[in-house]
Amino acid sequence: MATQADSTAFRNALGSFATGVTIVTTRDAAGQDCGLTANSFNSVSLDPPMVLWSLARSSMSMDAFRGADHFAVHILAADQEPLSNGFAKRGADKFAGLAPERGAGGVPLLTGCAARFQCRTAYQYEGGDHIIFVGEVIAFDHDDRAPLLFHGGRYALAARKAAALTAGNDIDGDAPGRFGEDFLGYLIGRAHFQLYGRMQASLAQHRLDATDHFALSILGIQDGRTAQEIADMIGFTGARLTDDHAHSLAERGIVRRETPGGRLWLTDAGRRTLIELAAAAKAAEEDALGAFDDNETALLKHLLKHVIHSTDPGLPDPWASGAGEGEAE
Ligand SMILES: Cc1cc2nc3c(=O)[nH]c(=O)nc-3n(C[C@H](O)[C@H](O)[C@H](O)COP(=O)(O)O)c2cc1C
Repeated sequence: MATQADSTAFRNALGSFATGVTIVTTRDAAGQDCGLTANSFNSVSLDPPMVLWSLARSSMSMDAFRGADHFAVHILAADQEPLSNGFAKRGADKFAGLAPERGAGGVPLLTGCAARFQCRTAYQYEGGDHIIFVGEVIAFDHDDRAPLLFHGGRYALAARKAAALTAGNDIDGDAPGRFGEDFLGYLIGRAHFQLYGRMQASLAQHRLDATDHFALSILGIQDGRTAQEIADMIGFTGARLTDDHAHSLAERGIVRRETPGGRLWLTDAGRRTLIELAAAAKAAEEDALGAFDDNETALLKHLLKHVIHSTDPGLPDPWASGAGEGEAE
């Protein structure tokens, strides 16, 4: 008999097999909707079309599935983690607040999924502490949504693996001292300059340079900072904010400052300018990320944050609260 340690190790080993996440639903003999989260789903046959999944003998849904002529398998989309959690709660009223559609045999069909398979129960097999259900697919539908994954006991997102991802050139390229096209600094730098280049027309329209723009962006997060505080925050870009910049922004009615060298506040005109610049920045971002799905965008941003964190020399955080406290107008 397997020890607790054996069965934990076995579970962990199985967890290295990444799967999608499904919710399997049916209707019991009394007409009650019933379902649970399952990742034991798999395809079996193309002709006839068949799928399988397995249900723990301990499941409160066992009688319902054993006695049902039909069931439906829902492949969950990336944003359906809360639904997955709801259907993984033993015996809960899992359909509360949902308005399911009806499929073959009256089984409840959930919406917003990546794919749904309506099945006629074809076979049931003993499978140790599980029962294996094999269904013949009698109808299915499919939406182009990113799937929710499960790996190592945690939810995960799918990222496509392009051939280019295997390239490994770095600073030396193919000759010493020569930069390869996969050098991180080049990739991040070029992406930044090209993305920021899209903003130039909007900046020119407002007669602002990059230093002005960085300073205004910092004030947009939290105003009431001094030019020196802003200079410390944007210094990593190479931009040098001087008191002359602050003076010029004040003269043009974009910021207000009470005394030379004092704290700066965005005026209404300054806020309007920032809103227009933010719209241009958003449009540039959407263009740049247009070829990515939501998962890839989230992954790219997540990885860039890691690089920012691992290279941070200890810069002040513009999003940390506290700047300008007690100085509000
Ligand atoms: C990602 C994930 C996958 C799961 N896969 C299965 C499975 O394949 N079979 C199963 O019986 N339980 C599976 N479970 C556990 C059930 O969803 C859970 O035990 C649920 O409470 C059963 O509900 P019931 O007892 O009301 O039927 C899974 C849970 C999660 C979170």
